[in-house]
Amino acid sequence: MKKKLLGAIALSAVAGLVLAGCGTGRDGGGDGAEEISEDARIGVALPDRTSENWVLAGDLFVDGLEEAGFEPDVQYAGSNNPVQDQQQQIEAMIQNGAEVIVIGAADTAQLSTQLQTAKDAGITVISYDRLIENSENIDYYIAFDNYEVGVLQGTALLEGLEERFGDEDTWNIELFSGSPDDSNAPVFFDGAMSVLQPKIDDGTLNVVSGQTDIAATATQGWLAENAQERMDNLIQGNYSSGTEVHGVLSPNDTLARAILASASDAGLETPVVTGQDSEVESVRSIMAGDQYSTISKDTRLLVADTIELVSTLQAGDEPAETEALDNGAADIPSILLDPVIVTQENAAEVYADDPNLAPLTED
Ligand code: BGC
Repeated sequence: MKKKLLGAIALSAVAGLVLAGCGTGRDGGGDGAEEISEDARIGVALPDRTSENWVLAGDLFVDGLEEAGFEPDVQYAGSNNPVQDQQQQIEAMIQNGAEVIVIGAADTAQLSTQLQTAKDAGITVISYDRLIENSENIDYYIAFDNYEVGVLQGTALLEGLEERFGDEDTWNIELFSGSPDDSNAPVFFDGAMSVLQPKIDDGTLNVVSGQTDIAATATQGWLAENAQERMDNLIQGNYSSGTEVHGVLSPNDTLARAILASASDAGLETPVVTGQDSEVESVRSIMAGDQYSTISKDTRLLVADTIELVSTLQAGDEPAETEALDNGAADIPSILLDPVIVTQENAAEVYADDPNLAPLTED
């Protein structure tokens, strides 16, 4: 799948939203503008806590929405039955009078029915972090630029290989992608492969297992144990006779640490492993010289911009800077923030204003 950027309107990389200031109502991916009360109930449906960013987002939404005068209703899908849980939570939000529902989808392909009900009830729907697929009933999508995340990961992998294994003629690598039920997974992967594929083609990189497509590299549920098991198998099948694995493309931090654990258990030299999310344990690992890179997608910024979007819509305005992303059913007006690559070299600088991460980067 290629990055689908259709009809970019007034593209510019901004972290905050610039308001058009016109009060003419809005019509996003769905039809018709609905009034939003000043003290509206805002539902926030988040997936299970597969990575720290989701955990952080929940608390930030509660505090930020209250501060903006709204009434937050934040729910997480449980890990046993996340899809059904989330569908029920969204249905309950609709019943309980939510005027806006922000959704970080547990499964981006399984919410069409709920979104139709929401739209029929005049509710504004915002797809958060993951683009919900095959529904036209989404008013806005807000996320970090996922394709760019992948490009940064692919670039970091090459840089790390040069840094740690510069003497080798060919670098042996393996590829991991995210969960097949998350529309972000192929976008991350395609971004990374836009950088890596030419290097595979020219022989700079050798994917020793031969597993290069998204189906073979997928990690169901974004679960660490699934990545660790696949890495154990890859090592056993391809690297047991002294062949070195120099690098691994990992789509996020949780999986990066599982991959590193597997390599370490097998007694291999630490490969260059990428990541995403700036999780505490991964930032520690980067500072210790193990994991090579992560991505900073500041959850504080994404949540603040989402709440700002809600306030903008409540005021009857439109966000000025959107671009259209095709979700299979419609072009969804989207706000994409810039991700930042982080390695040992720039960690202190990137996390300088983050009270949780800054102390980890001090030597
Ligand atoms: C998010 C990533 C996260 C992954 C697993 C993706 O949709 O964009 O930040 O690592 O889900 O939770």
